[in-house]
Amino acid sequence: MDQRAFIRQLPKVELHMHIEGSLEPEMMFQLAKRNQIPLSFNTPQEVKAAYQFTDLQSFLDIYYQGANVLVHEQDFYDLTWAYLCRCQQDNVVHTEIFFDPQTHTERGISFDTVINGISRALEDGKEKIGISSRIIMCFLRHLDQKSAFLTLEQAMAHKDKIAAVGLDSSEVGHPPEKFVQVFAKAREEGFLTVAHAGEEGPVDNIYNSIELLQVSRIDHGVRCSDDSHLVELLAQSRMPLTVCPLSNVKLKVFDKMESHNVVDLLRQNLCVTLNSDDPAYFGGYMTDNFLAVAQSHSLTEKELVQFTKNAIEASFTSDNEKYHMRCILDEFFSRSIG
Ligand code: ADE
Ligand code: ZN
Repeated sequence: MDQRAFIRQLPKVELHMHIEGSLEPEMMFQLAKRNQIPLSFNTPQEVKAAYQFTDLQSFLDIYYQGANVLVHEQDFYDLTWAYLCRCQQDNVVHTEIFFDPQTHTERGISFDTVINGISRALEDGKEKIGISSRIIMCFLRHLDQKSAFLTLEQAMAHKDKIAAVGLDSSEVGHPPEKFVQVFAKAREEGFLTVAHAGEEGPVDNIYNSIELLQVSRIDHGVRCSDDSHLVELLAQSRMPLTVCPLSNVKLKVFDKMESHNVVDLLRQNLCVTLNSDDPAYFGGYMTDNFLAVAQSHSLTEKELVQFTKNAIEASFTSDNEKYHMRCILDEFFSRSIG
């Protein structure tokens, strides 16, 4: 089997994907029409042509506008279902998705509308196409902690559907220290925690997410290479980093894929995983991210499999589900080399 076929067929686990970031321009137009929401573009092609980003903020400005077409529970269902169908094509067997409730509640859409649409699609994903999942609710870090507390309160009625809370949006100027109390409250209520850190922001954000927010995973974390002591600490503790290669190049965290550090980090025994972040905006889903890394770095099949092993280790699933995923992976590996 050549390496591209190996990558396509490799069982994958996604741990870093914003559901609003899976809104493809075609669906954006469909929903805009269905909900009579005006768009500042005339065609999906025009939208795609506008996806030229200079940094994280230039992306976020467009991304929050795109989310305006999501209004009804069925819209959130359709969005999530379309993503799950892409997962099936890419052999993603398990996914842990982020959603940003404040992006919707701030414009008058109820928390219940959002979570019910997403979770109904995820239930169907499990039942109809065998993809297991978890939901992670992110606080927008450019908003204040009071708004995050309000969001946590709204989430209480849906505790059974939400595995963890996270922190996303503009990292620079909005450090983890800003959210210490709301994360403490979330942990007290039984939620696991994660945070975007060291995407554009400094290594201090990685240290402080671990120490002050007590996260189980760091989202991105690629700036850890600025500090060799931190790299050692991450390797020793096996603190997972959910890395998003295509996103990092699109948002100019790295100038080109050849300069990306994820393979280096893998070889230093960090628990790094590959993910798509906002696949509709960054040019690809899981398989595309694997292919992009493999094309620019020489990787063995064993190393490619290690990305999935790491993702299973880092996932928020039960031990039983992890065992099941490891069996699927072992079976694939022996079949592919045999
Ligand atoms: N929200 C969606 N994608 C994001 C990213 N890459 N960084 C921070 N917040 C985000
Ligand atoms: Zn992200």
